[in-house]
Amino acid sequence: MAHSTNRGVVIAVGNQKGGVGKSTNTVHLAAALGQRGFQCLILDLDPAAGSTKHLGIHADSFAGTLELLTTDESVETLAISEKMPTGVHVVPSRPQLSEIDTLVSKYVDRTRILDRAIAEARAKYDFVFLDTGPAAAFTTTVAAYSSAEWFLLSAFPHPLSLGGLTEAFNDIADVRKHRNPELEILGVVFTSVDARATRLRTQLENVVNEALPGRRFQTWISQAVIVPDVSGQGRTLFQLPRFETIPVACQYLRLSIELEHRVRHRAAFIAGALAPPNFDAARNPSELQSVAAAACAVNQ
Ligand SMILES: Nc1ncnc2c1ncn2[C@@H]1O[C@H](COP(=O)(O)OP(=O)(O)OP(=O)(O)O)[C@@H](O)[C@H]1O
Ligand SMILES: [Mg+2]
Repeated sequence: MAHSTNRGVVIAVGNQKGGVGKSTNTVHLAAALGQRGFQCLILDLDPAAGSTKHLGIHADSFAGTLELLTTDESVETLAISEKMPTGVHVVPSRPQLSEIDTLVSKYVDRTRILDRAIAEARAKYDFVFLDTGPAAAFTTTVAAYSSAEWFLLSAFPHPLSLGGLTEAFNDIADVRKHRNPELEILGVVFTSVDARATRLRTQLENVVNEALPGRRFQTWISQAVIVPDVSGQGRTLFQLPRFETIPVACQYLRLSIELEHRVRHRAAFIAGALAPPNFDAARNPSELQSVAAAACAVNQ
């Protein structure tokens, strides 16, 4: 059951730093939204194929984003739905995507190579996630930043990420100035957070609050070995039995509620006038599920 958004929204998940949770956040946020009844598409735009692997697809076994961007093949024929989390389809990637520059005509505007695919995806899906590689200058990363209307910044809380965040904010400001003024920061997702590192957490919150007032998410994603464990098995937490008893799965559900709330009320959010969603009613995972269900019911 897809919700009646008029047109799917496009979210680029990025950070020029490697290994900061971009692919994990992409697959889990799509799966959390899928769980809540939305239809989500992931376009894996990284030759290292993070989302593809986290979803258990053997990179190399399917045609994917390389064909989508260099041939006339459609999202419909390339999207994989079998054995995927509920409500999630993916157009996979593989290492040959790194050769894209040699396969696209030199007369094509590289910042617009996603246009055809995105137009098709917007008509069919509520949310389109673009998982990007850790190389800001790579053709598919530039195209993703040029085509999306939301940018979701993924970060691990580490003292070194303080500088990385500022660099990422500058990069996004550059995209907005030169290429895509529609691009707005949806928020900064801090992943793999150690609950004991409270001082670092406060420092990072301050950096985000100063650079981007109102764009911090209330929800953090904890560090938990179950996350790399399930990724290694090619699944998301939402494909495990009784996932509602797993704290990180609940955090992703909460985060998906915050994300959807911002997307749905874009103008108020950008103006800094959007109150956060009310989670106070949710004291335990099953209550959270009903909050998520209620949020879906209200929005139908
Ligand atoms: N909440 C978490 N707890 C523990 N480990 C995590 C968590 N989230 C992600 N990880 C692990 O951190 C590693 C990097 O995550 P991921 O692959 O999502 O990063 P990435 O930014 O997509 O990396 P790349 O830049 O290489 O594409 C993975 O091994 C992943 O399983
Ligand atoms: Mg990745």
